[in-house]
Amino acid sequence: MRTHDRLRIAIQKSGRLSDPARDLLARAGLSFRESRDRLFCYGESLPIDLLLVRDDDIPGLIAEGACDLGVVGGNVLEEQACERLADGRGEAFRPIRELGFGRCRLSVAVPNDWEWTGPQRLAGLRIATSYPQLMARWLREQGVEATPVMLSGSVEIAPRLGKAEAICDIVSTGGTLMANQLKEVAVILESQALLVAPSQPFGDERAELAAMLLRRLDAVMSVRASKLVLFQAHRDQVAELVKLLPDAETPTVMAIEGQRDQVALQALCRSAMTWQRLEDMKRAGASGLLVLPVEQMLA
Ligand code: PRP
Ligand code: ZN
Repeated sequence: MRTHDRLRIAIQKSGRLSDPARDLLARAGLSFRESRDRLFCYGESLPIDLLLVRDDDIPGLIAEGACDLGVVGGNVLEEQACERLADGRGEAFRPIRELGFGRCRLSVAVPNDWEWTGPQRLAGLRIATSYPQLMARWLREQGVEATPVMLSGSVEIAPRLGKAEAICDIVSTGGTLMANQLKEVAVILESQALLVAPSQPFGDERAELAAMLLRRLDAVMSVRASKLVLFQAHRDQVAELVKLLPDAETPTVMAIEGQRDQVALQALCRSAMTWQRLEDMKRAGASGLLVLPVEQMLA
């Protein structure tokens, strides 16, 4: 039995989620000493350790109590939650934060040269997937009967191998589908990295460690989305420009030495500054627009 005065977080050992997960934890002030086998990282700055595992194992590790928290894709979590439900095991884990990275979708894809007429097009066909639960749920909702072909990897080559007519797999950039002459025809689930915890709250020191980690992660994530926008404008245009920044805190307006009508502004924006927004601001009279990332913030 391990002691419960340290918190143990499971993350993907290698793959799409591993670098962003480690980066997020580092920004929250966690540092680790890596073991020789690279599977366990001992927390140095705080009593919070890391376990590096296959992403598919993370929900199970949390259910068993072998880990306290995990970073895992919504696709994996939802599939395993459905599986537990289907075979009568109780709910054992739940997502507690969306982490904003690892965005992807679980989609149905078919060969490029197919004419797609809707889900009924799949009736009676074989669909290869690593997500049998989510796929079966979607097929039920669509009222389509098809045969699932379970594959744990390389799902996208199944049609070429003659193992299935269509596939249901994760799409991120779409590069894998394109390389295999497949096209995405239906999105079954939108996914991103989630922080996962056991359904039962911690009844010991881990509760406080988890609460502190969450406070820090929330701060890091809110800073990440924020941008500092600097620009100049004529005094008369300020009111109009501020309307274009509805998510900004009250902008600071500063005088410019030697100029009567022109002022400098600075505003903290809580959501993404797109090119579109910048162009709208320029049209409304802003000049010298500068968008800067925010490093740290303490309100
Ligand atoms: C998925 C999926 C594809 C790839 C698609 O694997 O199985 O191979 O990503 O990405 P793309 O659209 O950017 O080409 P995933 O990263 O989830 O790995 P895993 O299934 O091995 O965990
Ligand atoms: Zn995986």
